Amino acid sequence: MRALVVDPQAPAALRLAEVPEPTPAPAQAVIEVHHASINYGELNGARSGQMPPGAVLGWDASGVVVEAAADGSGPPPGARVVAFASAAWAQLATVDANATAVVPTAVDLADAAALPVAGVTALQALRAGGPVLGKRVLVTGASGGVGRYAVQLAALAGATVVASVGSAARGEGLAELGADQVVVGLTGIDQPVDVILDNVGGPQLVEAWGLLAAGGSLQSIGWTAGEPATFPPYATVGAPKSLTSFTVTGNRGADLATLVTLVAEGSLSAEVCWRGSWDRVAEAAQALFGRRLTGKAVLDVG
Ligand SMILES: NC(=O)c1ccc[n+]([C@@H]2O[C@H](COP(=O)([O-])OP(=O)(O)OC[C@H]3O[C@@H](n4cnc5c(N)ncnc54)[C@H](OP(=O)(O)O)[C@@H]3O)[C@@H](O)[C@H]2O)c1
Repeated sequence: MRALVVDPQAPAALRLAEVPEPTPAPAQAVIEVHHASINYGELNGARSGQMPPGAVLGWDASGVVVEAAADGSGPPPGARVVAFASAAWAQLATVDANATAVVPTAVDLADAAALPVAGVTALQALRAGGPVLGKRVLVTGASGGVGRYAVQLAALAGATVVASVGSAARGEGLAELGADQVVVGLTGIDQPVDVILDNVGGPQLVEAWGLLAAGGSLQSIGWTAGEPATFPPYATVGAPKSLTSFTVTGNRGADLATLVTLVAEGSLSAEVCWRGSWDRVAEAAQALFGRRLTGKAVLDVG
């Protein structure tokens, strides 16, 4: 089969190649991948040399089950599904039954492919911050994949949402998604916030920490800034508040099912802002690293 493999010499360190078909474990289905999306994390892994040449990457896949899990778990052959995979940028992928959700007919498979990493991250990070009804939630990196879902889910959960972006242009569309205030950097936030979903890290994380109310929670999701964070003396002393490392855990299939249902109902927008054939992956990656994407890029898998 064909797959995108890591190649340090190729644009975006990825090229199409022939690779062996994957062998499923007993609790894994095999899906024919129709669409896959890209995330900052796996693209950064490819370009930084963390992933070995020849490796097949990709976490977000949607498509059709061609072989059900041998242990009887998960959807049957023919089901339209979306999944958290480990080698999704391929014509066939193995997916854990508990990391897969059936896609309602009302939802386009290309939209579904945008959801796994970014959507489940936004959902779980928001949940980790505690109930937000009537609370103020700050989302940093709100223009990106995780950010645009986090803004929508926090608004759906009843929060007052402050969306932080890198420039006024990057804030476009966020008010329509539910942001009550869109700020450039952290300028103009004149009241403390109760929950921070931080996708940026670096000096902005330190500044955000200073805006967190007593009893508040900062979920450290990502570090796109790529710069260190230096806390001034005593910044972490005083009224209790928490900074928590975040990673996706638990039953990702159930969370994916929640997300596709919200999309089917029209309560959540998949925010696909770029779509093209997977042989254009380098173009999509350049747009992502160049901070020109406003949402998710979805690849059509040949
Ligand atoms: N912990 C986990 O389990 C987990 C899961 C998913 C994602 N992540 C991490 O969360 C972060 C966000 O992921 P994503 O998929 O939403 O990424 P994305 O779509 O690329 O969005 C990231 C946003 O960060 C902002 N940003 C600030 N400084 C940046 C810089 N120096 N370079 C690039 N972007 C910068 C950009 O917004 P502006 O241009 O408006 O500033 C951009 O829209 C990434 O670091 C990712 O690795 C972690």
